[in-house]
Amino acid sequence: MASNPTTSVLNYQSTAKRIGILNGPNLNLLGLREPEIYGDTRFEHYLFKLRSLFPGIEVLYKQSNHEGDLIDQLHQWGFSLDGIVCNAAAYTHSSIAIADAIRAISTPVVEVHLSDLTTRESYRKTSYMRPHCIYSIMGKGLEGYAEGIQYLIDR
Ligand code: DQA
Repeated sequence: MASNPTTSVLNYQSTAKRIGILNGPNLNLLGLREPEIYGDTRFEHYLFKLRSLFPGIEVLYKQSNHEGDLIDQLHQWGFSLDGIVCNAAAYTHSSIAIADAIRAISTPVVEVHLSDLTTRESYRKTSYMRPHCIYSIMGKGLEGYAEGIQYLIDR
């Protein structure tokens, strides 16, 4: 039977990997906020570069200042995407709820921080999410996000 081009388009299943970038509170101010610590690039500009570095990957992006929104996004992505790169920002050091969400989902999560937490205030040394992440990257600025995606691709 001759194939129907309309049907074959409808049956098309993408095999491209889908990776989510999840940024927590105050990271909407990247580029403006304490540039001596976090750099002077807006995340949206870096996202453009990040997507061009991984043309075969669908890179999704969400930033929220609200703990519940971050948890909802982990639930939404956490059973369908191939990986999540998560900078939970200050919630890293306080949120057992975000740590529990990472434990609950099946999608692997890489923890990223722009700054090197080992050289900063002592309250930043605790990460509740780290034990539930497959890898952690810190102190590499925005390049840490690219490293996180590469890690998820290579694993
Ligand atoms: C951060 C480090 C956190 O301690 C801080 O609260 C942030 C950003 C980082 O990327 O270096 O907001 O996660």
